[in-house]
Amino acid sequence: MANIILVGSQWGDEGKGKVVDIYTEFSDVVVRFQGGGNAGHTIVIGDEQIILHQIPSGILHQNKLCIIGNGMVLDLETLTEEINLLKQNGYFSDNSQLFISEEVHLVMPYHRLLDVGKEQKAGDKKIGTTGRGIGPAYSDKINRTGIRFIDLFDKHVFKEKLELNLAEKNPYLVNQLGQAECDSQELFEKFTALGKNLRPHLANISVKINQFIEDGKNIFFEGAQGALLDVDHGTYPYVTSSSTIAGAACAGCGIGPTKIDGVVGIVKAYSTRVGEGPFPTEQHNEIGKMLQEQGKEFGATTGRPRRCGWVDTVALKHAVRVNGFTSLALTKLDVLTGMEKIKICRSYRLDGREILDFPANIKEVADCEPVYEEVEGWNQDITKARHNEELPPATRNYIKILQELLGVEFILISVGAKRDDTILLKNPFEL
Ligand code: IMP
Repeated sequence: MANIILVGSQWGDEGKGKVVDIYTEFSDVVVRFQGGGNAGHTIVIGDEQIILHQIPSGILHQNKLCIIGNGMVLDLETLTEEINLLKQNGYFSDNSQLFISEEVHLVMPYHRLLDVGKEQKAGDKKIGTTGRGIGPAYSDKINRTGIRFIDLFDKHVFKEKLELNLAEKNPYLVNQLGQAECDSQELFEKFTALGKNLRPHLANISVKINQFIEDGKNIFFEGAQGALLDVDHGTYPYVTSSSTIAGAACAGCGIGPTKIDGVVGIVKAYSTRVGEGPFPTEQHNEIGKMLQEQGKEFGATTGRPRRCGWVDTVALKHAVRVNGFTSLALTKLDVLTGMEKIKICRSYRLDGREILDFPANIKEVADCEPVYEEVEGWNQDITKARHNEELPPATRNYIKILQELLGVEFILISVGAKRDDTILLKNPFEL
């Protein structure tokens, strides 16, 4: 048995959905521990594509338990839509597959209005959020004014919290942000009804997960976003509002760090970013366009085109360090097929200095000039490769250089969008 965390090592969208789906096969329980509806995990099964935002991807497998951890912020309206869509498509027929933390904070409609309104007001200083209310919901949590899932089941507590929140937020929404105000009674009724429907999933997930660990189950912690969007270690303030690194998994579901056996980092073979913020290896040219088109780099949650560029090992080494990766999975390698030359950023140059550690100052990050090593590309179709030896020498060379620079072993290489288009080198649950 093993308890494994999997997190993104760049700006999110590393292709976690597919790797999570594969690793779910080896696990008994899948846990989401941070983020919320801002995430979008795309999974391709046969010719079908499914995008999950809040429910762990394990839900697509029968007999796997899925847990929504206290560290997430949960939108019950979109969760209900997600559940209905899964059921319509023949998934999630067993309600006992899903547990929702009683402590998880809720994303309320006023959080979405605040998110969108603040972004509009910020003009060119905007963060480029997904507009899902994530920042305002986490702000309320830290501010100790948030509404938790369990509050829905005590109507006095819920009503009081709702009224306090709206007394503060409605004037700000209307007068400062030009948004609509929210009606307390309407929200009370709507969320009481949503809570009633979802109540069978309510659980003390800390007790449950610790029991699963004692029972020797394989537990898989599914991260969302990526290291450079982490609220502490990312390109602040152009980040999301949660801790996205491996260390967040324990706090986000109520287990101790001593229970974790391994941390897998997902590395996309090139870099992408959605929203604003510095991105040293971004390519505003044909290369960027080609990566965007070949990699189908459009946001799973918002449909926004993703900014694209070369792989950046300065940023990746930062992710290796803050996460303590024990192994790596390389994704979307096939997207590079057809490039004559491929560039790998090995360091940055700033005012004549060589920079090896990702700077905390985002102005510096923006001014850094990447120093590249150029390697040969390949033209052969690699999607049918199932063993390293079946990859062209240039592809193997690219993987070798990355592995040497990052100092962590690749245990999975994804060579196409489908579940089978994968070279599985090691099972992290058997390490
Ligand atoms: P928020 O999480 O909606 O507040 O957005 C903050 C920043 O994180 C924006 O730049 C978003 O584009 C980015 N972001 C949030 N979730 C994801 C994700 O799942 N993938 C990639 N970027 C994300």
